Amino acid sequence: MKKEFFELATRQGIVQWSSYRPASHAAECVAKGVTMPIVQWKDAYSVKNLAIDSQHKKLLKILNRLYDDFMDDVNNDSGHEAAIDKLLAYSEYHFQTEEQLMDKARHANTYNHIQEHRLFTEKIQQLKETLGTDRKERSRELIEFLVNWVLQHLIVEDGKIAH
Ligand SMILES: [Fe+2]
Ligand SMILES: [Fe+2]
Repeated sequence: MKKEFFELATRQGIVQWSSYRPASHAAECVAKGVTMPIVQWKDAYSVKNLAIDSQHKKLLKILNRLYDDFMDDVNNDSGHEAAIDKLLAYSEYHFQTEEQLMDKARHANTYNHIQEHRLFTEKIQQLKETLGTDRKERSRELIEFLVNWVLQHLIVEDGKIAH
């Protein structure tokens, strides 16, 4: 999967919003009455740890839900904030699991990994606070950041935990 992600990232600089859900595919999904997840779990994402894998699956579910809500703009500002709070709460829980696991194993990369987790939380909090200035644009920025961060971190950094 690393190769697949890097090929995509290299080709596009970063993963662009428009590539997540092309208009033609979106129209097809609407016609069929199904939702299209922005990121779908693949076995290649496995970090070879059952607990972490199941938390990653849940994290992707939260991200997909957030994406659907933002796309459909179903919430007002406080609704969006509540959805982001859910994401923050679950990611905090997940980060603790990983950090404890790494600490126990005296993993060499623990410090840097914790820093990445902290930066993630700070960025999401910052985006949440500025949501009211331009909800559509901030929502788009948030989803773009989330997809790029989650894929990069999950595939590259979390992939090192079991090693
Ligand atoms: Fe993770
Ligand atoms: Fe992590």
